Amino acid sequence: MAIKLKPLPYAEDTLGGVISKETIGFHYHKHHQGYVNNTNRLIDGSDFEEMTLVDIIRNSDGTLFNNAAQAYNHEFYWLCMRPDPVAVPPKLKSLIEKSFESFEVFKSTFIDKAATLFGSGWCWLELDLNENLTITQRSNADTPIIHGHKPLLVCDVWEHAYYLDYQNRRKEYLEKWFEIIDWEFVASMVKPENLAT
Ligand SMILES: [Fe+2]
Repeated sequence: MAIKLKPLPYAEDTLGGVISKETIGFHYHKHHQGYVNNTNRLIDGSDFEEMTLVDIIRNSDGTLFNNAAQAYNHEFYWLCMRPDPVAVPPKLKSLIEKSFESFEVFKSTFIDKAATLFGSGWCWLELDLNENLTITQRSNADTPIIHGHKPLLVCDVWEHAYYLDYQNRRKEYLEKWFEIIDWEFVASMVKPENLAT
């Protein structure tokens, strides 16, 4: 059973004010597709072939882990954005405010951690083992699901995610990216009991 490259949840040219069609084209069709293809090549004929993508990630290491986790991380990344802006649902906003003093503190902390992640990686908003919100820098293909954390939001800060549009101006990419977050998706990843106020 091969893993699949899921369709993007929006047209490739609709994030144009923030991420160009060219960047999406390379990122989705070359990089993400490459991780999917590599994963399928590596699991071909092995016990991993019958596993879900998440189980492959949880049971592998080395090159297979790197490719499978990257396939998962990218799938999650695409879901975190949307072309039409959406407000943060009130219960999620309240949870964020309780965890980070204010929404503005959360925003500046997230952008700062994403901007200062050295090298390639991902900046995540996660629920940790104690179900507290945490902003975590993760290098290369690292992913919260192998740490028992629940992913809520992720930004790709590998250079391939922004270099065509922003060159070395990662922070500018992050500030614009923050405006196209699909907060309804983020809220959907939080269990109702976490949102209870
Ligand atoms: Fe990427």
